Amino acid sequence: MGERRGLVSLVGAGPGDPELLTLRGRRRLEEADVIVYDRLVNPELLEFARDDAERIDVGKSAHHHPVKQREINNLLARLAREGKRVVRLKSGDPFVFGRGGEERTYLRGLGVDVEVVPGITSAIAGPAAVGIPVTHRDFASSFHVIAGHRKRAGHELDWDNIAHMEGTLVFLMGMESLGRIVGELLGNGKPADTPIAVIQWATRENQRAVKSDLLGIREAVAEAGLGAPALIVVGGVASLLDDGDDGGCGDGGGRDDGEGGVG
Ligand SMILES: C[S@@+](CC[C@H](N)C(=O)[O-])C[C@H]1O[C@@H](n2cnc3c(N)ncnc32)[C@H](O)[C@@H]1O
Repeated sequence: MGERRGLVSLVGAGPGDPELLTLRGRRRLEEADVIVYDRLVNPELLEFARDDAERIDVGKSAHHHPVKQREINNLLARLAREGKRVVRLKSGDPFVFGRGGEERTYLRGLGVDVEVVPGITSAIAGPAAVGIPVTHRDFASSFHVIAGHRKRAGHELDWDNIAHMEGTLVFLMGMESLGRIVGELLGNGKPADTPIAVIQWATRENQRAVKSDLLGIREAVAEAGLGAPALIVVGGVASLLDDGDDGGCGDGGGRDDGEGGVG
């Protein structure tokens, strides 16, 4: 009788609303022996798991890394080698700034079976949740998803190129660097009246958003008390952010449920 082979499923949890999980993602959660999940994953999704499934929180936040990536890699490999069905649950899509690519390469290198279950990325669904399409015939024929946090020395973004792109710019992990992002765009020739929107906790009950232009966004964000996790959307499409009919989002803030500034 052969032993069961383990499997690691890199599952995208979607942007936050549990109903935006894929059917396959839900099935993998129901089948899982162990779920290894990140900080931004909506805890409601864990309710799809069996009562006896082990749940391991390896959540990372901007200044706090409870479990190092190397340890996560080792953990996934060990669990799979024990013959377990492991779900590695990541916010959005596992291959969009989710370290999913690194984890897959590592596990395959050890001969561990690994599959990818895509998720709906916050980079698209977050703007959509407040009425912003990332492309639109009147505004943008491309969109660009950019890591907004400061890179390691020598890996600085090409701001001149970014500022001159025709398409919509979507920055993830950018709230701590909002001032620098705005400054680089302005300094490299982006017009000061370019529309920009910031969406916090997109698709979650505590979703909030503001829109302004490049010159005014820092003040609008400060007034509304918005912080991470949030998306920063730059370009004409940002002007389409719904005013007031989206459950609390719109110019200057919207519903204040005390979650503002959560990092
Ligand atoms: C490490 S990246 C992971 C992105 C994820 N893999 C995805 O496809 O959406 C984390 C960043 O995604 C963005 N993010 C993820 N979910 C979000 C949400 N519900 N609302 C706003 N921003 C979100 C924030 O910019 C956050 O800092």
